[in-house]
Amino acid sequence: MTTPIISPVAAPELVDPFGRGIEYLRVSVTDRCDFRCVYCMSEHMSFLPKQDLLTLEELDRLCSAFVRRGVKKLRITGGEPLVRRDIMTLFRSLSRHLDSGALEELTLTTNGSQLQRFARELAECGVKRINVSLDTLDAEKFRAITRWGALDKVLAGIDAAQEAGLAVKINAVALKDFNEDEFLPMIRWAHGRGMDITFIEVMPLGEVDGHRADQYLPLSQMRAGLMDQLTLEESSHRTGGPARYFTAKETGGRIGFITPLTHNFCESCNRVRLTCTGTLFMCLGQEDAADLRKPLRQSESDDALMQAIEAAISRKPKGHDFVIDRKTNIPAVGRHMSMTGG
Ligand code: 5AD
Ligand code: SF4
Repeated sequence: MTTPIISPVAAPELVDPFGRGIEYLRVSVTDRCDFRCVYCMSEHMSFLPKQDLLTLEELDRLCSAFVRRGVKKLRITGGEPLVRRDIMTLFRSLSRHLDSGALEELTLTTNGSQLQRFARELAECGVKRINVSLDTLDAEKFRAITRWGALDKVLAGIDAAQEAGLAVKINAVALKDFNEDEFLPMIRWAHGRGMDITFIEVMPLGEVDGHRADQYLPLSQMRAGLMDQLTLEESSHRTGGPARYFTAKETGGRIGFITPLTHNFCESCNRVRLTCTGTLFMCLGQEDAADLRKPLRQSESDDALMQAIEAAISRKPKGHDFVIDRKTNIPAVGRHMSMTGG
């Protein structure tokens, strides 16, 4: 009798202590940004010296190691990834993993400021979907929240992305006393252009100027308010991230909610985050991290790197402990989102 050939198992290769398969890597390619969103950064940020950054070749090697270990989805983030010099070189080289079928998806989170320049090239590299962060449609408020940004440039960037055939999802951080009155108009605007829109609860990441409690708006409350005006039906749509979606009957479009504070979704976490210096964070809300730059630079073979990746995944914590209240203004972790990647 011949032994039947067992086909390759589809089970994830990297599995953490809680049985969660890790198939999603988010890579922050720079901590720099051309905006200074008030909930993300303080006005005077000190950025990493350029020589501390991994080169684009090193980033490619690291991403490729994860792809070899079963990562199916890569998201390039920052800071603002499109301000990193020659960033298209990285997209171009990573697209080989899409061609080979090892990688299912290569995506991008961007503030949209550089999209006019890069949208077409991104599409040519096999990028199909991008997330554009946009918290208001009012040019003056946009300037205020980003401290420096120009709304018309971002809107032109979104046009360019859609023209290039990219599916665009809008990410808006829900901010108390700032964009509450715009949720409905923003939903109508996004759905009118065929875009999904996701609202995110502000998280206590890094020091900002002012009190987090002044920014925090629980989305459970916001969704209840929306339900007076829209008929929301729960949707089974998933993108591999933590958003839970609803379809608005009136517009036919989808609204996502990312609710790290009011509803913790850590039990289904499938991702880890790599910074531009090669530090791997196993959780957005915990300090523990693994240095992958050292094993990467130690030798040309990837053996030490693979071991370091496995050791890191075996330490992935169960979840975050975010709290935002009046009593404390200490961030859950000292790092800003721009370092770990959104
Ligand atoms: N809490 C929630 N979202 C944040 N972002 C940046 N900082 C925070 C924070 N402290 C968002 C950006 C962008 C995404 C990458 O993360 O607005 O949409
Ligand atoms: Fe830049 Fe995004 Fe942070 Fe705004 S939220 S400062 S666009 S990284």
